[in-house]
Amino acid sequence: MAEKVKVLLSEEEVDAKIREIGEQISRDYEGKQVHLVCVLRGGSFFMCELAKRITVPVSIDFMSVSSYGSETKSSGVVKIVKDLDDPLIGKDVIVIEDIVDSGRTLSYLMEMLKERKPASLRLCTLLDKPDRRVIDVNIDYLGFQIPDEFVVGYGLDYAQKYRNLPYIGIVDFD
Ligand code: IMP
Ligand code: MG
Repeated sequence: MAEKVKVLLSEEEVDAKIREIGEQISRDYEGKQVHLVCVLRGGSFFMCELAKRITVPVSIDFMSVSSYGSETKSSGVVKIVKDLDDPLIGKDVIVIEDIVDSGRTLSYLMEMLKERKPASLRLCTLLDKPDRRVIDVNIDYLGFQIPDEFVVGYGLDYAQKYRNLPYIGIVDFD
């Protein structure tokens, strides 16, 4: 456990950005209900904070897919570990993710969810690492673009640690 964590985005910066995204979503979905689909486990902290900032009616559901083990490299394999409880048909769905990295997880997931015939389907991610993209993914709501560094906090883990940090930090493995 030699790694150290240094702050990349402070708690204040992250909270302010989530507030902004919440306001934007509230405007865009005025008169509608949004159905937030949280991608576990990383998306959970972001979704809870974001949902509190949305002023239109909100429903939530959770799914879990795996593309990473406890290592910091993508396996390229996407597997549904836990599916949604409720159907998406006719709903205005926003998928909530912690980070888009290679894009493999999200491109697969968005295609799969589209087949369930939601009224609309958008993607909201707290972080985006564009330098690492392998598969193109359309992001509708974005918190921050970040450099190609391994980050933790606000739901993101390193070997299941650090998810509870209230800020985004860069892991220093030296
Ligand atoms: P992708 O399929 O390569 O876009 O990977 C997306 C998933 O990998 C995210 O939902 C995270 O769970 C994980 N991931 C990617 N980059 C990081 C990182 O810097 N820190 C922690 N987890 C990451
Ligand atoms: Mg994730």
